[in-house]
Amino acid sequence: MAKMYYEKDCDLNYLNGKKIAVIGYGSQGHAHALNLKDSGCEVCVGLREGSKNWAQAEAAGLTVKTVAEAAKWGDIVMMLINDEVQADVYKKDIAPYLEEGNALAFAHGFNIRYKQIVPPTGVDVFMAAPKGPGHTVRSTYVSGKGVPCLVAVEQNATGRAYEIALAYIAGIGGARAGIMETTFHDETETDLFGEQTVLCGGVVDLMQCGFETLVEAGYAPENAYFECIHEMKLIIDLINKGGVAAMNYSISDTAEFGEYVSGPRVLPHEETKARMRAVLADIQDGTFAGRWIAENKSRGRTFFNSKRDQLAKHPMEQVGEELRRNMIWGGDKDLDTASN
Ligand SMILES: NC(=O)c1ccc[n+]([C@@H]2O[C@H](COP(=O)([O-])OP(=O)(O)OC[C@H]3O[C@@H](n4cnc5c(N)ncnc54)[C@H](OP(=O)(O)O)[C@@H]3O)[C@@H](O)[C@H]2O)c1
Repeated sequence: MAKMYYEKDCDLNYLNGKKIAVIGYGSQGHAHALNLKDSGCEVCVGLREGSKNWAQAEAAGLTVKTVAEAAKWGDIVMMLINDEVQADVYKKDIAPYLEEGNALAFAHGFNIRYKQIVPPTGVDVFMAAPKGPGHTVRSTYVSGKGVPCLVAVEQNATGRAYEIALAYIAGIGGARAGIMETTFHDETETDLFGEQTVLCGGVVDLMQCGFETLVEAGYAPENAYFECIHEMKLIIDLINKGGVAAMNYSISDTAEFGEYVSGPRVLPHEETKARMRAVLADIQDGTFAGRWIAENKSRGRTFFNSKRDQLAKHPMEQVGEELRRNMIWGGDKDLDTASN
């Protein structure tokens, strides 16, 4: 069992006298900044000039500065801007102001793992990574609970990096749920692997294949949407609550029998795992990271944008939109307030 920490292991006093600059006010940024403020910490938000979120952060009672000013002000600088822009922003607006004994913090290890950011040796480098979207980090904190978090320390310059990281996670509410220790290396590689092969890449392609198969066989797209896409959440909620056994308990025996018979037909285990190992190898040797960095730096996101446009035009997205508009099923319309 990996090492776990809870509220009893975290001491918020390690943040006493420390000024925390939260860089970014998106999904994670707003949650960290507001939760830390409500936990009694001294916080400011760092944003680019002209940011659409500047007024929103101020309206929420937070002090807002430019990224450079915030980095200069803060003893702990938490990087909560998009991973692909962090390195440039770090070089220009953060690195010049980092002082010995400061801490540089992350919610994902990409830029440290792939050496896009190489912090000076005199600063602590830690990770406080909620395993959930920022809006859930905020809503669970407000309701007295928390989202489980990962903690990792890449550099322990002060000798207190773990204590500070755990205090930070307690400040955002994560200690209420549990904190698991990891490394920047493992968090980055497993996170990329999970989202590419199972959570985002895997799930979207699986649903798309199911939807297309039914529609091409002449069934109504609305039926295909319900059976292959809408019900995914209901099934995942059951697995999330009690494992695959809980799902199998709730579904019919016919569905469970079909799971055993047809699951391995559409996902041949050894072949799928061989393909997954190839994806993992690209993550481990930096091929994927290099491709993503190039996509942003030299290719103007042409592949990324064309795939996004293509998906928006796919009938499963259009049928889904139409159905969601015409049915009442308790879904949140506003993604920003969605519960997960
Ligand atoms: N979202 C999640 O569920 C999740 C979960 C765990 C970890 N993380 C990690 O958390 C970090 C933040 O992700 P996020 O999803 O919260 O990001 P996000 O919602 O996309 O928010 C991005 C923020 O970065 C700012 N920003 C973008 N480009 C910038 C630039 N060039 N200069 C200055 N500010 C810039 C944006 O500023 P404006 O306000 O001006 O637009 C915005 O406030 C990432 O490392 C991510 O991997 C995310």
